[in-house]
Amino acid sequence: MSNTVICPGSFDPVTLGHLDVITRAANMFDKVLVAVLVNSSKRPTFSIEERMELLRDATDGLDNVEIVSFEGLLAEYCKSRGVNAIVKGLRAVSDFEYEFQMAIANKRLNPELETIFLTADSDSMYLSSSMVREIGSMGGDISNFVPACVHDRIVAKLRG
Ligand code: PNS
Repeated sequence: MSNTVICPGSFDPVTLGHLDVITRAANMFDKVLVAVLVNSSKRPTFSIEERMELLRDATDGLDNVEIVSFEGLLAEYCKSRGVNAIVKGLRAVSDFEYEFQMAIANKRLNPELETIFLTADSDSMYLSSSMVREIGSMGGDISNFVPACVHDRIVAKLRG
């Protein structure tokens, strides 16, 4: 089994909760692909390129992390890159049904593909990109929610 895993998501924008999961995955596996993807049920605020750039800067110190993006199915991409595990953060019970559904669908599409859930740390339990977007766009302080090195760019976009 390949020791490369993938952390997929919308990352609209990256939060400290995402960074926590990526960092922990990077400590557990040889290589982590962070995939910035289209979630067809969401209308993004940040472009794919902006989200990738923010993630690149936020993960700058993590040598085994690569930021990628692609169109199409995650299960197919994993097949093409020989990746056999998805790593996702699980915050609260409310995440479970949605994440479980995706894990089952991905396994149906690609039986080699496992989904590994990391429990969110207590600071990130109630943190989400949508909360960051709402607070930031209304002039609130998001410095406890996003990586410091990308804070100003996120604020500028949300207030712009
Ligand atoms: O951060 P999100 O929005 O909860 O992440 C969802 C995401 C982007 C991982 C999911 O929508 C996805 O995998 N999109 C790529 C297309 C795909 O494979 N869809 C089927 C998922 S079962």
